[in-house]
Amino acid sequence: MKTLHVYVVMATAILSVRTQVTKGAEKTKECICELNNSGLTFPTRRLQNVMSGATDCTQKITTQQMSEVDILMDKLHHRLRQLEQDVVDLEQEDDGSSQQGDLYMAVSLRIIEIELAEILDLVSKLNTTTAGHQGLSKDISIKLKNMNTEMESLEKFDHTQIVQKQKQNQVLMKALTKCQADMLVTVAPPVIPVPGNCFRGNLLNVTGPSTYTVTEYGTSYAFGAWGRDPKPAKGKEDWYWLVALTSSNIYANYIRWYSSHSAIVVGVKAEDVLISSSNPTTNTVQGPNVAMYENALYYSCYNSPTLCRFNMTARTITTTALTDAGHNNKFPFCHLGACYAYTDVDVSTDESGLWVVYATPENFGNVVLSKVEVNGTASLGRTWRTSLHKRTVSNTFVACGVLYATRYLDKYNEEIFYSLDTVSGLERYDVGLRIKKMTDNIQSLNYSPCDQKLYAYSDSYVLTYQVVFG
Ligand SMILES: *[C@@H]1O[C@H](CO)[C@@H](O)[C@H](O)[C@H]1NC(C)=O
Ligand SMILES: *[C@@H]1O[C@H](CO)[C@@H](O)[C@H](O)[C@H]1NC(C)=O
Ligand SMILES: *[C@@H]1O[C@H](CO)[C@@H](O)[C@H](O)[C@H]1NC(C)=O
Ligand SMILES: *[C@@H]1O[C@H](CO)[C@@H](O)[C@H](O)[C@H]1NC(C)=O
Ligand SMILES: *[C@@H]1O[C@H](CO)[C@@H](O)[C@H](O)[C@H]1NC(C)=O
Repeated sequence: MKTLHVYVVMATAILSVRTQVTKGAEKTKECICELNNSGLTFPTRRLQNVMSGATDCTQKITTQQMSEVDILMDKLHHRLRQLEQDVVDLEQEDDGSSQQGDLYMAVSLRIIEIELAEILDLVSKLNTTTAGHQGLSKDISIKLKNMNTEMESLEKFDHTQIVQKQKQNQVLMKALTKCQADMLVTVAPPVIPVPGNCFRGNLLNVTGPSTYTVTEYGTSYAFGAWGRDPKPAKGKEDWYWLVALTSSNIYANYIRWYSSHSAIVVGVKAEDVLISSSNPTTNTVQGPNVAMYENALYYSCYNSPTLCRFNMTARTITTTALTDAGHNNKFPFCHLGACYAYTDVDVSTDESGLWVVYATPENFGNVVLSKVEVNGTASLGRTWRTSLHKRTVSNTFVACGVLYATRYLDKYNEEIFYSLDTVSGLERYDVGLRIKKMTDNIQSLNYSPCDQKLYAYSDSYVLTYQVVFG
């Protein structure tokens, strides 16, 4: 429990402001303004007694019918009326608790004190004037004296002390305001941040494979990629794309579409969409690490450090320069000393959009990750320079704002060993999650935010793995 105490001691009360955080099932925080009215309460009744005594006095004086004192009597009468009204006001203000009430009460009492002083002055003048008239009885004289004494005793409650404390009360108010502001800011309970700010939680495991099948091409093409478009065209929500590197295990010039998962398993394509009639040629596909996003295929352009986008709708290609990115096997993915040919550039999709992984000499051949802003002409957005040497990696994918890298463990296992949190910038080399393999090599790995599956292309086979978050 964290408690902020602010105390202000006043003539009659102790006020405290504190912040209270309760830890438990329900995490709550509240500002409490506590009033300990341990002090003296203003004795309104006693003042009333003085007032009624004064009124009584006036009545008795007026009955004396003393001509010399008519003017003084008039004044006195007026003063007592005033006093009466002030006492009524005071009673209305004295609603018991509020500081403001206390403050006004103090001011009102001061006014009454002044009133009474003037009354006493008038009475004193009256007394002098009527001394020879035996007008004022001894009784009235005593009463007036008593009133004076009582008034002096009431001065104990002189709330000018509260007036002096007004500044402290303002400090108190500020503390209360700040407390409330703090409460708004820090209302969220402290949580251990999830990598990438991922709403799915931490990546806990990769299970499977569930799908494991050779494609329609048989074992003709060992290199390729497949997956689902996270933002598919209307009517193609259940479609799967497949790009096989049909020339030299390096190049591709068309995309094959399947209208369902079972269609790809039984090998019945929906259509082939041609990027170019030649293979390879300018802006055709080079390398297996391609991805489909918003009905456009993103890939490494043929023989150029460039990211290509093939628009499925318009059937046109636009390009984005990958400045300084290694290409043509300069910084490929590798395993056990061998490398996957022409895997310099890897395109990934996740919940937030599109990403591209490459390496630059400027970053010593280490992995560089860039967000791809797909609006209009695709451009590179935020970029992270990692300490991960690209040649020590067999594949990468991005899931929920975190870059993951795999390495070859053995014939049966690939391991996700590395992660880069794009929110905190934190790199980890101890992720230690295994991916069970059916064949030796994984040529490409794509994460689909639609179903949280990894789509792997492995030695002519297509496989899916379930990514488990929590
Ligand atoms: C108010 O009074 C209660 C009970 O007497 C006491 O426990 C508490 O500490 C007091 N608070 C302040 C601010 O003095
Ligand atoms: C009025 O005058 C008498 C005698 O002069 C004095 O004893 C008394 O205290 C006076 N009363 C007041 C209220 O001043
Ligand atoms: C991951 O899943 C596999 C297969 O379901 C299981 O054997 C393994 O223990 C899991 N690993 C972790 C870290 O939960
Ligand atoms: C693809 O082309 C269509 C038709 O010209 C256009 O509406 C769409 O915005 C393009 N997509 C991208 C990602 O540029
Ligand atoms: C892309 O376009 C969409 C819709 O026009 C817009 O909401 C979004 O902010 C744009 N993103 C960028 C990075 O410009």
